[in-house]
Amino acid sequence: MNRNVKELVKQMTLEEKAGMCSGKDFWHLKGVERLGIPEVMVSDGPHGLRKQAAEADHLGLNESIKAVCFPTACATACSFDRELLEKMGETLGDECQAEDVSVILGPAVNIKRSPLCGRNFEYFSEDPYLASQMAAAHIKGVQSKNVGTSIKHFAANNQEYRRMSCSSEIDERTFREIYLGAFETAIKEAKPDTVMCSYNKINGEFASENHRLLTEILRDEWGYEGYVMSDWGAVNDRVKGLKAGLELEMPGGNGSTDKEIVEAVKNGTLDEEILDTAVERILNIVFKFADNRQEGKFDREEDHKLAGKIAAESMVLLKNEGILPLKAQGQKIAFIGKFAEKPRFQGGGSSHINSFKVTSALDAVKEVAEVTYAQGYDVKEDKIDEALLAEAVQTAKEADVAVIFAGLPDAFESEGYDRSHMRMPDCQNILISRIAQVQKNVVVVLHNGSPVEMPWADEVKGILEAYLCGEAVGQAEVDLLFGKANPCGKLAETIPYQLSDNPSYLFFPGDGRTVEYREGVFVGYRYYDTKEMPVRYPFGYGLSYTTFEYSDLQLSAEEIKDTDTLTVSLKVKNTGNMAGKEIVQLYVADKTGAASRPVKELKNFVKVELQPGEEKTVQMQLDKRSFAWYNTQIQDWYAATGKYEILAAASSRDIRLAKTVNVVSTTELPIYVTMNTTISELLENSKTKPIIEDMSSSLMEHMGGSQEAEEGNAASEAITPEMSLKMMENAPLRSMRSFMGMSTEEIQELIQKLQTAAEEN
Ligand code: BGC
Repeated sequence: MNRNVKELVKQMTLEEKAGMCSGKDFWHLKGVERLGIPEVMVSDGPHGLRKQAAEADHLGLNESIKAVCFPTACATACSFDRELLEKMGETLGDECQAEDVSVILGPAVNIKRSPLCGRNFEYFSEDPYLASQMAAAHIKGVQSKNVGTSIKHFAANNQEYRRMSCSSEIDERTFREIYLGAFETAIKEAKPDTVMCSYNKINGEFASENHRLLTEILRDEWGYEGYVMSDWGAVNDRVKGLKAGLELEMPGGNGSTDKEIVEAVKNGTLDEEILDTAVERILNIVFKFADNRQEGKFDREEDHKLAGKIAAESMVLLKNEGILPLKAQGQKIAFIGKFAEKPRFQGGGSSHINSFKVTSALDAVKEVAEVTYAQGYDVKEDKIDEALLAEAVQTAKEADVAVIFAGLPDAFESEGYDRSHMRMPDCQNILISRIAQVQKNVVVVLHNGSPVEMPWADEVKGILEAYLCGEAVGQAEVDLLFGKANPCGKLAETIPYQLSDNPSYLFFPGDGRTVEYREGVFVGYRYYDTKEMPVRYPFGYGLSYTTFEYSDLQLSAEEIKDTDTLTVSLKVKNTGNMAGKEIVQLYVADKTGAASRPVKELKNFVKVELQPGEEKTVQMQLDKRSFAWYNTQIQDWYAATGKYEILAAASSRDIRLAKTVNVVSTTELPIYVTMNTTISELLENSKTKPIIEDMSSSLMEHMGGSQEAEEGNAASEAITPEMSLKMMENAPLRSMRSFMGMSTEEIQELIQKLQTAAEEN
């Protein structure tokens, strides 16, 4: 249907337009009956449908309809599988159509800055590129069913502590490269219908009234065309927010902020055109849904199966010393731990799904093998229950293999507050260690939304990281443990040995008013790898029951311009006995030395399925952004001329193949020559370089290094020509006064000459 939304807005009264800019209630937008504008519903998200009826709240306190809980983002990111995320999105889209939900609130792409953030389970990764790819696939999937998404929480909402008032203090480069990165790529690639702004302030300005964020960056730079809604209760100053680019306030209040908008238009402090544009943007999306309704489908049994499949593709096998897969027959197996019976598979808060059914590992294993079971610990409080412990140790001792289902209980992590440490409950750590003393074959299966310290890691033979893997978690665990499925997830975040290793450790979560992102761009593996710090398990790491060999890395060119695209190809072969999937990661290492950068950064990846013995060639592209960093001098992305290493890797610490490409920058950085401009800066600029090169021999002479070192001449032996060149590079022009006897006037003349050359086209 071809609607003229602009015309429609013209027919609306001022009050109707202001009303359109806030919700009717917790989950609905207002309609205008006389103009045929329907009331549409939005619901959480992101990993299932949380459609609430009457008693609405945003903290997951009240029941919603029975729905299917898919694996949470911390898990699905480990699949590194764009197609899988798209499939999950399509299914959510179908469910929304069936339930008449116009927008499902998610995906959430905030970067995991610290393992302590209570909401990390809802976020994808510590890496912006991976997060952007998972989010884009999710968005494309949902929106292919004519249902909207709301990418959230825009932006720099990386902790729960004081999330509604604290200011995230971030330098521009870090903001662009790390915290906006996931949003930018996902928004450009997948065009989400809505964006949800975050609660927090950014450098002192609330996200909900941040003109730079919501208009200059989001719309002017990125070309975003949907509408922005507030996080629930994120509005501070409604009129300022509207002017900044916040179209919709959620949830609806008592109408007082609508009145503020009306008043502001009447008294001339708000241009009515701004309001009209906001309403237009909202209505475009309202009608996109209303005019394109399609038949929905919510087959809970089918979707439950898909949730299990996604879970199996997402879990990460961290350790396997010949213990997995388990044998269904001829092996006495004990399942230990409350989570075997009642798994933890989702997090608390607004994403909490009222799961229509849950498959535990104990349920699923019935189809496969006979196991014994002991509860081992309690999840309500962290107290050692000697009776439970003794029973578990005995059960483990009597078996050939003990599989311990452990992790974080609900109270340990949730939306609304952060963790205060990275440990598992003591009662579980002790249980694992005690069992390891009587049983040499121990496998630990972890259920957690964010990394935990693993003091017992060296005492067990197997570790399977299940994260919070949705309501079919037990099915996936059993399929993987018994080898019906082959593990193929890899970590979307680094697991450090201990919390204090984390780069944000000294600055997280700030003093309550501000939180300073002082580690800069060195987040996650960008820090650990650059520091060459030992970690428990690196980013991108995960084992399989088979093995893969990489060979024949090819680059489409040895040299490219920064505006070109480089195609990278390589061969991957399954060298084991079982079909499996490998995630090949492409990192770029900047060798130009132009800026302080992480030692490598993930810039592409591919997941490939291979039968035993099969070999495939995989291809990936790299473009300017893959090489660039955000240069605040030009306020743009910049890839310096020079060498970059292209690394094909099985994890950030397992580089299999490498090749070098030379990138030629098409951007000449502007230079403003002053008395304090250094010789090296002038040598870096192609226009000023020849002038300095012309002068270099006399410069070097004055720095004492032009002659061949004479034997016996202590001074000339001590300063070689290479050394004087290096010293000279760091000298500012004004030092020519002291070392070359130039007058201030002569240097001024030189500055003029250099500046004129620099500005020549
Ligand atoms: C959360 C959002 C959520 C909203 C609605 C807020 O508290 O931060 O992620 O979509 O509530 O439930």
